[in-house]
Amino acid sequence: MAIELYSTKEIEKIKRASQVVAEVLHIVAENVKPGMSTWDLEMIAREETKKRGAKPAFLGYKPPFSNVRYPAALCISINDEVVHGLPKKEKIIKEGDVVSIDFGAILDGYAGDSAITVIAGKGSEEAEKLLKATKEALYNAIEKAIPGKKIGDITHAIHETAQKYGFRTILRYGGHGVGRRVHEEPFIPNNIKDIGKKNPRLRQGMVIAIEPMLSLGTEETVEDGDGWTVKTKDGSLAAHFEHTVAITKKGPVILTEL
Ligand code: MF3
Ligand code: CO
Repeated sequence: MAIELYSTKEIEKIKRASQVVAEVLHIVAENVKPGMSTWDLEMIAREETKKRGAKPAFLGYKPPFSNVRYPAALCISINDEVVHGLPKKEKIIKEGDVVSIDFGAILDGYAGDSAITVIAGKGSEEAEKLLKATKEALYNAIEKAIPGKKIGDITHAIHETAQKYGFRTILRYGGHGVGRRVHEEPFIPNNIKDIGKKNPRLRQGMVIAIEPMLSLGTEETVEDGDGWTVKTKDGSLAAHFEHTVAITKKGPVILTEL
């Protein structure tokens, strides 16, 4: 499939879906507290999405990397979990946990996708630094989302930010095009080793989800027994931030910011 280019009108629709994502994500993040289960957060997300007349994008969705449908609205990945953490009733958030929440919504046929990482209660200094670095990597990457730059420029911005802090970027995972579907081309690597020969140029009208994932230790991941949750191979802490961004003549426009 080719990379989709969206009109101003369509970008406006992606923005409306993205605004629902931002609002729901904000509410869920505010509810992260020690003692809560990740399933409690899932329930909040479903209710808040419904209130806004939208549909969770991940619930029942079959991503390109799986042959089964994802059974939840949120991905909640804690501590050494990197992405795609499956919400569970028995999974209780503890004081100091690094909690990454990833959420997508569909409204009027268009999707938005965003993620944030928060600490439950008081976190360690290292955890705080990891969050700061990952968020900074996202914003440095967004600055490269302008017509004429290449996908690899985004990857390099993420890589350089991680390096500055002495952290690593996760291999084989990354961002993607988003719009009529949650995952569209192009793939946007987080790790420079994943930059392919086909390193497409960014063009006006592209809409992409940029999603750096940083770890304190290894770049390598393993899949958990539940078939979804992805963890760092060495058990080191990981964080994840994501925004849906439109590439316009005037530069990057963050659609999932409140
Ligand atoms: N935001 C996630 C990503 O881009 C979407 C996960 S899809 C799911 O990888 F189905 F696994 F939830
Ligand atoms: Co995404």
